[in-house]
Amino acid sequence: MAHDDPVLAGATLRRLGDLRGLQVGAAIRASTLRENPPYGAVVAREFSSITPANEMKWASVEPVRGRFDWSGADATIAFARAHDQVVRGHTLVWHRQLPDWLTTGGFTGPQVLQLMTEHIGAEAGRYAGEVVAWDVVNEPFNEDGTFRASIFEQASNGPRYIATALHAARRADPTARLYLNDFNIEGINAKSTAMLNLATALRQQGVPIDGVGIQTHVILGRVPPDFAENIHRFAAAGFEVCLTEIDVRIPLTAGEASPAQLAEQAADYARIVEASLAVRGCVGVTVWGFTDLDSWIPRAFPGHGAADLLDEGLSPKPAYLATRRTLAAHAGVDESGVRPD
Ligand code: XIL
Repeated sequence: MAHDDPVLAGATLRRLGDLRGLQVGAAIRASTLRENPPYGAVVAREFSSITPANEMKWASVEPVRGRFDWSGADATIAFARAHDQVVRGHTLVWHRQLPDWLTTGGFTGPQVLQLMTEHIGAEAGRYAGEVVAWDVVNEPFNEDGTFRASIFEQASNGPRYIATALHAARRADPTARLYLNDFNIEGINAKSTAMLNLATALRQQGVPIDGVGIQTHVILGRVPPDFAENIHRFAAAGFEVCLTEIDVRIPLTAGEASPAQLAEQAADYARIVEASLAVRGCVGVTVWGFTDLDSWIPRAFPGHGAADLLDEGLSPKPAYLATRRTLAAHAGVDESGVRPD
């Protein structure tokens, strides 16, 4: 590649993050890694942490009861090892992407909890020592801060399944950091307050919990102004925080993102990275897909897209440059990674 490539001319995101002790990660797909070598080259170069986008979800690893398919998860772990990256495990207990045999199996509550515990034991056990952190329970809350009804919540007649899951994860992997993860908890609101209260209560009860993942799927122009203040609440309560699934989706009213929208998106990414760097205790930022090539956004939010750092051709967008500039400024270096005299 040419030297005037703006990505290659500068320091990588992972190197700038390393200078500040911040993991800089991306969610990736094992199939794209396999099929698209340039995609893998960017993952290796730019990120110090990876999260499998789907490969560790229950439906992926046990599509048929008792028949496990670890291929995608194993490939992710192998890639990380080869490129000196940590892996964030995502996710052990979630109401989505569950195997049909579980959701339609007519199991009783106690059976569901037993199956959940066995699943956690099998998966977290298999990757014990290989995964730096687990999103043990994903998306346990409704927007108003009440507990989300799910097969697990129903099985335990309330949120007790969360403690059960955390205990099971700790037994299976004594070293992984154990997280609860959710969306729309970036600002101070009913849902983020409920998350803080839950994490605090669990810790008081002696349940193993280390951190809270703030997904950070935001809409263009809507980064909450109290983001850093909110992260600080969690850190002050003794929890590690990670921004686990960052993307900034753009309403594509004109078919594609306009230069003005891309500039606004860059400012949003900078704000998000600023918020994470403002609080000691925020250990990492992970983007949910780093390229518009394989983003989940167009399917999940029709009419939205262009949510990532690189475009579909793996070229840097203003968002990439703003992220790099923000990391560099906080690391006390210029964008090529050189410390001024
Ligand atoms: C998404 C994946 O990126 C998609 O490929 C899949 O079809 C649906 O799930 N919150 C989460 C992630 O915690 O697991 C979701 O990932 C995005 C929203």
